[in-house]
Amino acid sequence: MTPDELLAQLKVPAIASPMFLVSGPDLVVETCRGGVLGTFPTLNQRTSEGFDQWLTEIEERLAAARQAGERPAPFGINLIVHASNPRVEADLEIAVRHQVPVVITSLGIRPEVIEAVHGYGGLVFHDVVQGRHARKAAEAGVDGLIAVCAGAGGHAGTLNPFAFTDEIRRFFDGLVILAGGISDGHQVAAARMMGADLAYMGTRFIATAESRADPDYKRMILEAGTADIVYTPEISGVPANFLKASLERNGLDGAGKGPDAFDFGEREAKAWRDVWSAGHGVTSIDDLPATADLCARLVAEYRDAAGRLRFNDAA
Ligand SMILES: Cc1cc2nc3c(=O)[nH]c(=O)nc-3n(C[C@H](O)[C@H](O)[C@H](O)COP(=O)(O)O)c2cc1C
Repeated sequence: MTPDELLAQLKVPAIASPMFLVSGPDLVVETCRGGVLGTFPTLNQRTSEGFDQWLTEIEERLAAARQAGERPAPFGINLIVHASNPRVEADLEIAVRHQVPVVITSLGIRPEVIEAVHGYGGLVFHDVVQGRHARKAAEAGVDGLIAVCAGAGGHAGTLNPFAFTDEIRRFFDGLVILAGGISDGHQVAAARMMGADLAYMGTRFIATAESRADPDYKRMILEAGTADIVYTPEISGVPANFLKASLERNGLDGAGKGPDAFDFGEREAKAWRDVWSAGHGVTSIDDLPATADLCARLVAEYRDAAGRLRFNDAA
């Protein structure tokens, strides 16, 4: 699949980004059926066997949708390519066997992963928070760079989205995917205007019927504004955005420096189960729709956005 072939299969240029403990088959399938690229992290299943089963389930449900005359979007997975993840090889082998259309890598570049995915015609996207890492990933041959900017949910960056999108565009002619605070279809259109090909949306999809987030977590997102998000290394050792109310519930204030070494093992899983992450995009979220309805709304808002661009036509 080429990047253009991927874009041609979407109803709106957006990806529901992979979220630890939050995304699973229901969210992925409903997202894809809504014309948005759905994804999940391999580590959301506790074992590689479980990951394999989820892939089979997603493929079967999307095949059934196709048989019923629908044209679901492709799906993707997130592979944490960090030394602390002992499952990289096993999960990659499973992804290759299933020919997963899009593989999103985080926390390191491994050329053999890119080669393996390209070997069956899949696409590799890589997320970055700095220009230096973006250049390295571009040189390694990824098909898409995800610019994770200030205010994003999860491990966010600090860069301004206008500047970072343009910085990447200047040396990279693959897909540029913008992340950070994008919660509606007008904002997806704004990402395109800024030079990105796709928007990457996490926080918005936590507050859906199909996300695996705790009901209290979803409610906390509805009540939060930008002042309720704390950027802190206290949970992971690297900075990420968390809901202030959830930090407080766990007796934390975000002022601690967190563990010395980042480790995507049991400790991290427990921390993210108790302390809930979300980005500045919470401020735009007021409801808990079914994912199908959210996707339909994104499509309508995206189409409506063109009208907003008109300005003093007669001048
Ligand atoms: C709860 C949560 C968990 C996340 N887990 C992961 C993950 O496992 N892998 C990953 O690549 N990104 C992860 N992210 C980051 C998102 O994929 C994405 O970069 C971010 O949510 C985009 O910003 P937004 O939330 O403002 O839309 C996570 C984000 C959140 C909110």
